[in-house]
Amino acid sequence: MHIVCYTPEPWSGGALAGERHRVSCLTGPLVALASRVATASPDLLIVRGFAAGEALIEQLEALVSLRPLAVVALVLPQADPELLLRLMQAGVREVLPSEEPATILAAVQRAEARLGRSVPTRPEQAGRCLAFMSAKGGDGGTAVAANLAAALAREPDTRVLLIDLSLPFGDADMFLCSQTQASDLADICGEMERLDGALLGQMVTQVSDTLHLIPSPGRLDKLVRIQSAQVKQLLALALREYQFVMMDMGDGIDPVRLDLLEKLEHLFLVTSLSLSSLRRSGQLLLMLDGLEFSGAKVSLVGNRVGESQDIAQADFEKAIGMALARQLPGDGAGLKESVARGTPLVTLRPKSPLARGIVDWANALLGKTTGKSSPWRLFAIK
Ligand SMILES: Nc1ncnc2c1ncn2[C@@H]1O[C@H](COP(=O)(O)OP(=O)(O)O)[C@@H](O)[C@H]1O
Ligand SMILES: [Mg+2]
Repeated sequence: MHIVCYTPEPWSGGALAGERHRVSCLTGPLVALASRVATASPDLLIVRGFAAGEALIEQLEALVSLRPLAVVALVLPQADPELLLRLMQAGVREVLPSEEPATILAAVQRAEARLGRSVPTRPEQAGRCLAFMSAKGGDGGTAVAANLAAALAREPDTRVLLIDLSLPFGDADMFLCSQTQASDLADICGEMERLDGALLGQMVTQVSDTLHLIPSPGRLDKLVRIQSAQVKQLLALALREYQFVMMDMGDGIDPVRLDLLEKLEHLFLVTSLSLSSLRRSGQLLLMLDGLEFSGAKVSLVGNRVGESQDIAQADFEKAIGMALARQLPGDGAGLKESVARGTPLVTLRPKSPLARGIVDWANALLGKTTGKSSPWRLFAIK
């Protein structure tokens, strides 16, 4: 559990210092509470040292709308019943009369029990969760994620789900199929109370037997109904039903995507070798670092490498301080045809260099070694 304390002046965390949970103590003014705490992604928030009043209630309300699952505990030595009611309405779960170690630890235990109940986790999670972000819109994050999903799903018994979280208005469906989708991410999140594997199977778009898609909603009114807690629950269920759950995260971050970072096995940042993408890649890597997202879980994927590019690969890598983990060539004509026909490129033109690069990548993810197709192999000539 991640416990975040928010206080106006530095606080040691008292009893929390020796706790087995991850504890972050943030110091800041009241006006920054909601934004700073939401970014820190707490499971339990302990707020102390602020006077109870409208400003505090406003901040807590804003925070709870950004992070509905977090348990909020407020240290408040005195509170009249009317104030208590207002605080509860604002989403505060616990009002603690003191900072005594026993009081704080009891609140931690209650939060743990509550979170354990509200986010049921089954141990048999089998799936792998991979996310794709574009350094800049147009760099190819969606084309790459969709085709890698299709390449993985060609393997027998490998069930793959692609969730289009490139909000608002993702377009992953264009690279996979031409059918109109009955249910999108907002519809599926709306059924979360009763969603199980069977219902999920009925609501996803079936691109093939093993490749399923959850498209993003195309209407703003649906978009605003998607809650971060619902998407987290959906992901937990999907990871039990599919071998790979891939997420197109678009080129930005919002509370929904922020909350999913901790669930990722790996994040692939897809970038072209342009100066503006170099700058955006650097900014995104810094942001991820600031969010304590492990650098070991991020890789850079160069897209359209070798096409007209502003900067040589070696210079790009030197500037960003990271080598490209994968380099994919350009195939504008192939992708155009793929979108026009509603068929993934890896199926439509499996021999194109781009499709091959993606299939190689899929094989590496599946732990398969790719044999080169050279006829000389028959004679064991290297
Ligand atoms: N390797 C590539 N070669 C040629 N065109 C590409 C390549 N990758 C993506 N594209 C094209 O670039 C455009 C933007 O790609 P898209 O995946 O939608 O970008 P993003 O999701 O990063 O905004 C699309 O028209 C797509 O077909
Ligand atoms: Mg996209």
